[in-house]
Amino acid sequence: MNKDARIFVAGHRGLVGSAIVRRLQADGYTNLLLRSSAEVDLRDQRAVTQLFEQERPEFVFLAAAKVGGIHANNTYPADFIRDNLQVQTNVIDSAYRHGTSKLLFLGSSCIYPKLAPQPMPESCLLTGALEPTNEWYAVAKIAGLKMGQAYRRQYGFDVISAMPTNLYGPGDNFDLQNSHVLPALIRKFHEAKARGDTEVIVWGTGTPRREFLHCDDLADACVFLMQHYSAEDPVNIGWGADVSIQELANIVRDVVGFQGQLRFDASKPDGTPRKLLDTTKLQATGWQPRIELREGIAATYRWFIEHQIDYRH
Ligand SMILES: NC(=O)c1ccc[n+]([C@@H]2O[C@H](COP(=O)([O-])OP(=O)(O)OC[C@H]3O[C@@H](n4cnc5c(N)ncnc54)[C@H](OP(=O)(O)O)[C@@H]3O)[C@@H](O)[C@H]2O)c1
Repeated sequence: MNKDARIFVAGHRGLVGSAIVRRLQADGYTNLLLRSSAEVDLRDQRAVTQLFEQERPEFVFLAAAKVGGIHANNTYPADFIRDNLQVQTNVIDSAYRHGTSKLLFLGSSCIYPKLAPQPMPESCLLTGALEPTNEWYAVAKIAGLKMGQAYRRQYGFDVISAMPTNLYGPGDNFDLQNSHVLPALIRKFHEAKARGDTEVIVWGTGTPRREFLHCDDLADACVFLMQHYSAEDPVNIGWGADVSIQELANIVRDVVGFQGQLRFDASKPDGTPRKLLDTTKLQATGWQPRIELREGIAATYRWFIEHQIDYRH
């Protein structure tokens, strides 16, 4: 990837896309193609074809998608499967037809079976039933991964796929209805502290275990893979260790400085009991994450404070 290569970062305003843009600009890449969903709706095949005809990007980071937490997936299953299938199908096909040399597709760790062996190797894909609360999104992501493999086999198109674990960081979605657990906890503890509440209620039992990776580490891994990886098999991207939701809530409480109690509402869904990725393959390439969870949460909370007016939704 030359420093003046034409690089399309689809979804550049999102948590992942904005981190990839920061990474590329820090590395001196100057010729970035950036379009918001208001400018180009990637569900619209004609608009995508026109964009690729005009701009002819050499490299594509496909970080555009409809993303959300358990509540959003449960409430809008049709939107999650349709929008993600349309966006990824239009971009992968147009990139191939307009001479893009390499595309990185971003899936998610929820593509793996609900009761997969932990940590989850890439080889456990399609070996068991998915977690029902987000299967619509997961099936779309599996289709994207398979589409990349098919275009590589039939056309020799260099599509690679990365499967990140749960991500967090600046630019995340802090909306309590649609966000993931970590940004929701930051907002809940912050607002409880501001109101002087005596307790915070956390969804579920607190026992599920989750792995978290800072979006800047993820962006670093994506640029590394675009430069050094070219194969059909997907690559897991994670921190390599997990925490319980209770441990996570305690870290966020400390970082925010909330003095009150923690209470768990077991009537709310827990989701998958454990979701830890096997990152042996990525580590074998020499890539390592750098941002520790507490340090990353503290930096995200500082960003949240500075950007209080813009919860994005
Ligand atoms: N967040 C996580 O924990 C996580 C974990 C694993 C994998 N991932 C994967 O990482 C990728 C990015 O996720 P994220 O967390 O960065 O999501 P995000 O913050 O919600 O950002 C999604 C981006 O996609 C763009 N987008 C959505 N629909 C679009 C459309 N129809 N046309 C054009 N652009 C559209 C949005 O553009 P606008 O802002 O312009 O509307 C937004 O910038 C996704 O593929 C997701 O599956 C995320």
